[in-house]
Amino acid sequence: MSINYSERIPNNVNLGEDRTLQRALEQWQPNYLRWWADMGPDDSQNFEVYLRTAVSVDPQGWAQFGYVKMPDYRWGIFLNPAEKDRKIHFGDHKGEAAWQDVPGEYRANLRRIIVTQGDTEPASVEQQRHLGLTAPSQYDLRNLFQVNVEEGRHLWAMVYLLHKFFGRDGREEGEALLQRRSGQQDNPRILQAFNEETPDWLSFFMFTYFTDRDGKFQLCALAESSFDPLARTTKFMLTEEAHHMFVGESGVSRVIQRTCQAMNELKTDDVGKLRAAGVIDLPTLQRYLNFHFSVTIDLFGSDESSNAATFYSTGLKGRYEEGKRIDDHILKGSTYKVLVVQGGQLVEKEVPMLNALNEVLRDDYIKDSIGGVERWNKVIEKAGIPVRLKVPHKAFHRNIGALANVKVSPDGRILSEAEWQSQVDHWLPSAADRAFVRSLMGRVVEPGKFANWIAPPMIGINRQPADFEYVRFN
Ligand SMILES: [Fe+2]
Ligand SMILES: [Fe+2]
Repeated sequence: MSINYSERIPNNVNLGEDRTLQRALEQWQPNYLRWWADMGPDDSQNFEVYLRTAVSVDPQGWAQFGYVKMPDYRWGIFLNPAEKDRKIHFGDHKGEAAWQDVPGEYRANLRRIIVTQGDTEPASVEQQRHLGLTAPSQYDLRNLFQVNVEEGRHLWAMVYLLHKFFGRDGREEGEALLQRRSGQQDNPRILQAFNEETPDWLSFFMFTYFTDRDGKFQLCALAESSFDPLARTTKFMLTEEAHHMFVGESGVSRVIQRTCQAMNELKTDDVGKLRAAGVIDLPTLQRYLNFHFSVTIDLFGSDESSNAATFYSTGLKGRYEEGKRIDDHILKGSTYKVLVVQGGQLVEKEVPMLNALNEVLRDDYIKDSIGGVERWNKVIEKAGIPVRLKVPHKAFHRNIGALANVKVSPDGRILSEAEWQSQVDHWLPSAADRAFVRSLMGRVVEPGKFANWIAPPMIGINRQPADFEYVRFN
């Protein structure tokens, strides 16, 4: 289970025994490092950062903490151990042995799935590359960099699969993953949410809470795959993903805590007064939440999708927690309800479940994401403030599927274009909101100090003290 760090590319897949593959990856490595230098965190090349590095894939204690110069981070290839005699447990091949190689007939679809997942990883690093310049504390700066290096490693995870199983096509895809750029007009990242900017730290915390959670659900679905190397790769990625969502949940929670503290001190909920005091008012937090939630649930794709049905039936991508569900895991003849607009109303429509599997995954995601919002509300409740945050209606601000062309309020009412336009600044961050949040972003680098708009964390990383030096700037 331990990882070999004596090789140029750390790995637990006996890379040294496959010279061709090793050479191909060693050729990709300098291109990756060039991409990191160009598109990774701004101005961070000389920083020594207190990072965790994977030393084993053993769930107990895989991480080792220590100072690392980020360009020297040991990105590598780590798969969860193989499960002996693993069987396919859903779809038309249910009961057959899991595949150790890519079946020819599924090659194109598997490649597409792996490339789409792989593309999100460098995209988020690109989206977040300027944030280090305005970090609210050393603690937060370190967490940002931890997320960034691990997203870089997730790219490695997908590129390994492409190189090992997809030959020349795979190597070309590996190069293209380093060439697309988040937000770029002529060569953008594949999925829209990964072309949006992450312009400030509130966006970053919302992104890591909501959008990294999309990552969790996609990875969970791929961890069920009949293609065993993909399942094992994504299982290990999930252990890293948990920290990203923690950064988001605790980050937003600390912003709320600080805002509530100011509301109680000043005995006001007046937005102008709170902004003058340098904290982020709860209505603005709600609008950021609405934005990130709606953009993220689009990532699950069209409500009805024949691709989703194919991916499931052919065993490429399962459901969230497939193994825990009690049905036939084949789903032919089952139905599921999706939302459609009929006669100016949102109504439920029953469709074959296989075609609705994107919607099934989206609904599982929504359930999971509400949990953290409830924990944020506990912070507000504890402060004695009667406001509550809420995820918007599933049909609000959608850009994909049957709900893409309809204007819906956060509480689920269908609106005319004019009604939407007159209200949208109450529901989504306005230019003024964004400018205000941006105005708060200033760099705090002294150990133990925090920007005024965010409360300190409950506990340090790896139980370090509050004034721990997480980053040596040199
Ligand atoms: Fe990732
Ligand atoms: Fe992540």
